[in-house]
Amino acid sequence: MAFKTLAALVALVGIANAAITRKVACSDGKNVATNAACCSLFAIRDDIQTNLFDGAQCGEEVHESLRLTFHDAIGFSLSKGAAGGGGADGSLITFSDTETAFHANGGIDDIVEVQKPFIAAHNITAGDFIQFAGAVGVANCPGAPRLEFMFGRPAAKAPAPDLTIPEPFDSVDSILSRFRDAGFNTAEVVALLASHTVAAADTVDPTIPGTPFDSTPSLFDTQFFIETQLAGTSFPGNGSNQGEVESPLRGEIRLQSDSELARDSRTACLWQNFATQQTQMAAAFKEAMAKLAVLGQNRREMVDCSELIPTPPKLTTTPHFPAGVGIADVQQACEATPFPTLPSDPGPVTSVAPVCVFVQIST
Ligand code: HEM
Repeated sequence: MAFKTLAALVALVGIANAAITRKVACSDGKNVATNAACCSLFAIRDDIQTNLFDGAQCGEEVHESLRLTFHDAIGFSLSKGAAGGGGADGSLITFSDTETAFHANGGIDDIVEVQKPFIAAHNITAGDFIQFAGAVGVANCPGAPRLEFMFGRPAAKAPAPDLTIPEPFDSVDSILSRFRDAGFNTAEVVALLASHTVAAADTVDPTIPGTPFDSTPSLFDTQFFIETQLAGTSFPGNGSNQGEVESPLRGEIRLQSDSELARDSRTACLWQNFATQQTQMAAAFKEAMAKLAVLGQNRREMVDCSELIPTPPKLTTTPHFPAGVGIADVQQACEATPFPTLPSDPGPVTSVAPVCVFVQIST
């Protein structure tokens, strides 16, 4: 139907715009949201920033919460359908007795037990809480992207099956094929592994819990992609463990899977590209995480509450070689392009401090 006057058309556009931008006042009397369904999340966000993330830190609890987003979601299979798991549905917490016993979930019981009381205290499903906590937590890490948060996961119906989570001793073939079966292409796998820039291992070598994967585990920077390309020289702990290979720095641990992905012809150039492309890396991670966070869910039935996710602090550092290493230590794996020239930090050879590990006290 044609519009009779230009004024009528302008009025209609105005109404449509107002509908898009209108905010609702939340019943807490403090906040406004674009969708009333998001209002309940303000109190949850404040609670977890204070009491889970120690005052909006990018520490151990954020790292563990991010790992949990992945381990819950990846229990999903395009080929196996419902038998392959419900994806990002909270089953890892709802059916924690079953899923924390899976080998690949070693150490995840810590954060599962820490998150449970928050879920019990708020009206939220485990699936929503896991992804919300992950997105809020990552926003505490300088350099991180502001992740999307879609709200509305129903309660999980069943535990995920075992063997859907990649292990650090898996081959690149097996890792890429597991991710493909969950809907991710090779570039998305590399993008998701940017998560290991804010990460440490507690159980790979249990004698040295909290050993980071790069020299800056509280920054969402590109150091992980730089440092995994350096020649490994020693083990940080008691020697060779399953899924561990030599690392280039004292106090740093390297997963066999990260080492192989950095050197495989299918992934090496993607890996090397992220070594200096902070903006690209963060954007690709954001996009891949948006997909991960709704695996197995019907996105159209969910509400976009991304406005609840804080804006991450800016990164003030630039890509560099840690002190004591340089371009001569790079194991060039990308055939198309030489590794970029970077400055080496001055000073004595870098030794990386462990991430403080929290202890779950049972009463
Ligand atoms: C090839 C795929 C992957 C493998 C084999 C893998 C393996 C591992 C292993 C073995 C650990 C150490 C666990 C421990 O000993 O405490 C770890 C930590 C971690 N992973 Fe992955 N991971 C993969 C992909 C991912 C993805 C896609 C994400 C998130 C999107 C992720 C996030 C993390 C985080 C944040 C940590 C650190 C946890 C902490 O510091 O406590 N990982 N990963």
